[in-house]
Amino acid sequence: MSLRLNDIAPDFTADTTQGRIRFHEWIGGSWAILFSHPKDFTPVCTTELGYMAKIEPEFAKRNCKLIGLSVDPVESHESWVGDIEETQGYRPSYPMIGDRDLAVAKLYNMLPADEPGTSEGRTPATNATVRTVFLIGPDKRIKLMLTYPMTTGRNFDEILRVLDSVQLTAAHKVATPVNWKPGEDVIIAGSVSDDDAKKLFPEGWQAPKPYLRIVKHPH
Ligand code: BEZ
Repeated sequence: MSLRLNDIAPDFTADTTQGRIRFHEWIGGSWAILFSHPKDFTPVCTTELGYMAKIEPEFAKRNCKLIGLSVDPVESHESWVGDIEETQGYRPSYPMIGDRDLAVAKLYNMLPADEPGTSEGRTPATNATVRTVFLIGPDKRIKLMLTYPMTTGRNFDEILRVLDSVQLTAAHKVATPVNWKPGEDVIIAGSVSDDDAKKLFPEGWQAPKPYLRIVKHPH
């Protein structure tokens, strides 16, 4: 069955560049991002993993761990890291899963559909993971799922923005509007009655419509 938002992220054991891990135990009490790329030593992936290495401190500040994945072996990840550092200026220090038997890829639906007209099953092209991102909370539940085309590098700043939103809305009864950035106004959650909102937001709010109640960023 396909995964849905709010499902428990499936647990697994896997070999990584930092040894064998059990996923849930590795997450511990943190937030986590599991992200797959199609293949080591390919151009778009090299830029992506370099950028994730660059902004890893921003995730760490938010108590969020990163872990990469492809179907390449761990030894391949280890030698590719040198190229990433050389070309992108940042060396990944987050672990990377070597999912050689596609076990995690299948568990998380990271593989593309089989090519039409092939009866022999998967080809080398469809054996590579597509670009997925899973944001997982300390409760081990899936908060965000993204799937990108092979030929499009992801915007990882957007993942950071979503993490800020999800962490804020986990702590306060608010939602964040289109293109929201930390510090900007937020929206009172629809589940909060006006009476309760008066207690939660005593400074009041602006309501261009009764269902659109805008307040300052809570602290
Ligand atoms: C890349 O990272 O450049 C790439 C990898 C697999 C398919 C297409 C592009």
